[in-house]
Parts: sequence; structure tokens; C-alpha cells
Amino acid sequence: MDAKYASSCVEWEKCPETNLPEYAFIGRSNVGKSSLINMLTGTRGLARTSNTPGKTRLINHFIIDSAWYLVDLPGYGFARVGKKDRSVWEAMIRHYLTNRANLVYIFMLIDIRLEPQQSDLNFIRWMAVKELPFVIVFTKADKLSKDKLWKSQQIYLNTLNEEWEELPPIYITSSSDHRGKEEVLSLISESNRQYVEMRQ
Ligand code: GTP
Ligand code: MG
Repeated sequence: MDAKYASSCVEWEKCPETNLPEYAFIGRSNVGKSSLINMLTGTRGLARTSNTPGKTRLINHFIIDSAWYLVDLPGYGFARVGKKDRSVWEAMIRHYLTNRANLVYIFMLIDIRLEPQQSDLNFIRWMAVKELPFVIVFTKADKLSKDKLWKSQQIYLNTLNEEWEELPPIYITSSSDHRGKEEVLSLISESNRQYVEMRQ
């Protein structure tokens, strides 16, 4: 896989002008968005990662095999920035997600170790109301035993089931042990195929 940094922008209007399909990664700060992009592309250091939340601050485009884009977004719910900065970031993300015409899927990342977080549930609600296409990706699966992983997933699904009749596709991943890589990449390649067909 050939993965290259393409651009960084603050406003969706300034993102690359393109007809190629793209996939964006969203979720709380530190959930592992940038790490997952590196894992999926097999390119260490492509997207900048950090132990300190709030590393990604712009809308970063990466071009893959000259045919599709992965987009790394800043996380939400990062406590150490002020309220004003936070709402600017959130507006930037929301504008991008609702306006970007070639956006095929949003990957909604959730740390599998945590109980359902209000900020995530709110974001899921917002995407559903906007009818945005998204899938749920649990991250950091390597940090839990098989048993705990299953329990954690059940708790999350039960919470979602209380509110929704239908759930989006769900993936369990780890950037450390590469779990879920094939599954996520096949969703992307199948979606790319459909996207090209639809445009013809
Ligand atoms: P922001 O850019 O701040 O929004 O964060 P992010 O969501 O891009 O998170 P990032 O990829 O920078 O990862 C945050 C921290 O979690 C880093 O220290 C990563 O090494 C670690 N991390 C990410 N994914 C995994 C994973 O699957 N397993 C483990 N063990 N650690 C992970
Ligand atoms: Mg990041």
C-alpha cells in the first residue's frame, strides 16, 4: 500500500478538491485515530501520534494508492483546551463531516476499555440525525483480556440498543497487534468499488 501525506486544512472548503472517495476518523482525543491510520496503511509515522491528547489539530488528508483518502481529524472532548477553542474545533469537524461530498464512511472510534461516554453517545446521535454514514470501531483491544473485551462490547451494544433499532457495522481493532486490519480494509475496498461503479 502506498500512503502519502497530502494536506492539512482548517476549513472543509480548503480540503483537496477531488472526486476520489474518502474515509474519516473521528473520536475522543487519544482514542487512537492517528495510530489506526498508521496501522491500516502499514506506514509508521504517517499520522502523528502522541500520549498527550490533542495531538491532531487539523483536518489531515492522506492519499492511498493515488486512489482514495484517509482523513485524520482532531479529537473532541479534550479537556485541556479552553471552551472557545473546543467549540471552534467541533464546528470545524462538524462542517467537514456534513459538507464533504466524497466522504464515504466515518469511522467512529471508541476506546473499548471505557464505559459508554456521554460525548461519544452525543456524537453518534448527531451523526444519526444528520444521516451520515458511519461505522463503529473499537480501539485498543490488546489492552483487555478476551473475557473483558466481550463484556465491554456487550455493555456498549446494550447502551446503543436502548436508543437505536438498528446498529451500524462494528469493528474491533488494535493498532498494537493489528487486530481488525483486514476487516476494516475490506470495508474500504468494497466501498471504493461501489463508489467507482456509482460514478460511471
Ligand atoms: P488526538 O490526535 O489527540 O485526538 O489522539 P488520537 O486519537 O489520534 O490518538 P493517537 O493515535 O495519537 O494515540 C494516543 C495514544 O494511544 C498513543 O500513545 C498510542 O500509542 C496509543 N494507542 C493508540 N492505539 C492503540 C492501540 O490499539 N493499543 C494500544 N495499546 N495503544 C494504542
Ligand atoms: Mg491524532
